[in-house]
Amino acid sequence: MSWWKTGIFYQIYPRSFMDSNDDGIGDLRGITDRLDYLAWLGVDAIWLSPCFPSPMKDFGYDVADYIDIHPDFGTLTDFDALIAAAKRRDMRVILDLVPNHTSDQHAWFIESRSSRDNPKRDWYIWHDPKPDDSPPNNWMSYFGGPAWRFDETTGQYYLHNFLAEQPDLNWRNPAVKAAIFDAMRFWFERGVAGFRVDTIDRMLKDPELRDNPPNPDWQPGDNPTEQFLRVYSENRPGIHELIAEFRPVFDEYKDRVIIGEIAYSMNPHDITGFYGTDEQPELHLPFNFALILLAWDAATIRRFVDTYESLLPPDSWPNYVLGNHDRQRLFSRLGDAQGRVAAMLLLTLRGTPFIYQGEELGMHDGYVAREDFQDPQGRNIGISRDYCRTPFHWSPGEYAGFSTVKPWLPVAADYRARNVETEMFDPTSTLNFYRHLMHLRRWHPALHAGAYRALDAIDGCYVYLREQGGDRFLIALNFTAAPKVVTLPSLDSASATSLISTHMDEERLDQPVNLAAPLHLRPNEGLLIRLG
Ligand code: NOJ
Ligand code: CA
Repeated sequence: MSWWKTGIFYQIYPRSFMDSNDDGIGDLRGITDRLDYLAWLGVDAIWLSPCFPSPMKDFGYDVADYIDIHPDFGTLTDFDALIAAAKRRDMRVILDLVPNHTSDQHAWFIESRSSRDNPKRDWYIWHDPKPDDSPPNNWMSYFGGPAWRFDETTGQYYLHNFLAEQPDLNWRNPAVKAAIFDAMRFWFERGVAGFRVDTIDRMLKDPELRDNPPNPDWQPGDNPTEQFLRVYSENRPGIHELIAEFRPVFDEYKDRVIIGEIAYSMNPHDITGFYGTDEQPELHLPFNFALILLAWDAATIRRFVDTYESLLPPDSWPNYVLGNHDRQRLFSRLGDAQGRVAAMLLLTLRGTPFIYQGEELGMHDGYVAREDFQDPQGRNIGISRDYCRTPFHWSPGEYAGFSTVKPWLPVAADYRARNVETEMFDPTSTLNFYRHLMHLRRWHPALHAGAYRALDAIDGCYVYLREQGGDRFLIALNFTAAPKVVTLPSLDSASATSLISTHMDEERLDQPVNLAAPLHLRPNEGLLIRLG
């Protein structure tokens, strides 16, 4: 089975992971220095959010050069050292590819905007103003305001679905494809194991630039950028064929993985549609964000997982995500007790788990005052992603051991209790809970590769089996704050042992379980039981 099916991924937000040179910004050497921590934790692959040269208007998602490293993060030599150090620990590194747009400081855009007949003019999407000088249509930027910026030099508007400093590339131009595919090869040659590809489903826009229709559900006070449905500004016919064109570039190298960021959806069809077909394979792993979006309710989650499983094309592999650098942190969203239940779900389902840095500490969102917002989305429309991007907590010391100087974002208030140093020595900590589960998942084929089957359970609980040959597990998760008693069907096993509980107390560590009697779950308890 491929490494990216059996392994556990860990997302690093480089600015906030570890600062090695005392400038308040995390960097590549900081990551290399802390690989032993990740190996100890049980991580198989790290995904780095963008670390390329960038004016940092969108903190790296505005790329000014696809084939170099931003000086804040280090150099290409530091990058090579990181890859080598990861390899020694049998850990893979994947990068973040941002093909939908570049920075307005990218050499391609500087050329493109220089004149209407520049050879790179058509690398971006330019259009004349309407007769009254207004933008070509009503498309809106995700970060607020129109998706068009007027450029004085040439008297046309250019399209930017995100910031005006992030002009959209024209993916209908073959030269754009060739240039991005070459950038991918540059990193593959350096030993990168794959890419997480930003907004991959939204790269094609309507060539006629038709107006988006109004969103019937939108009401004043809602996110202003959702006033229109993004029908024509993204995800147009042809997108599946375009995504499929990425695959041969991955296949030129051995064992590389393509993970795609697609629109957040609770509908499993929307996700499974991006695996492609045998004739036209698309993504190895189209990100599944449903666990972030769905109501946290056992029946709802079970229904989703079962449907998602049933819709997966043959030979394709599921994946699950509980958080990332764009969303409220897991433990802030669900609370500490259900945060652990969610972690047990993530680490025992069939499918590649993605952990966002700090989740394993039970980190909460930080506090950032409005006037200190760094994130353009926060500054423009008030929905700040700074809260989930505060520095990682290494110790209870100053600046949480992240840096010796004031970090680029404030350290979150909970760092004294939730940090690696303190939690490492507390046997009941969230960190030790994650670590224990991650190692169980790695060790047992049933957990990283086995089949999945849900059992009918009482309201509020989600109970399922993972099985591979004689290796069998029962997972029972209580999604409520009340005690529950679950009656199990006959499981045809001679013995059962509870290996770990979310509560991390002795009561359930390596204790025999009587399967003939109903199973008692404490409030907010998840149990992993090995069947003999
Ligand atoms: C998705 C990324 O995760 C987000 O951080 C970024 O702002 C947008 N894409 C635009 O690149
Ligand atoms: Ca630094």
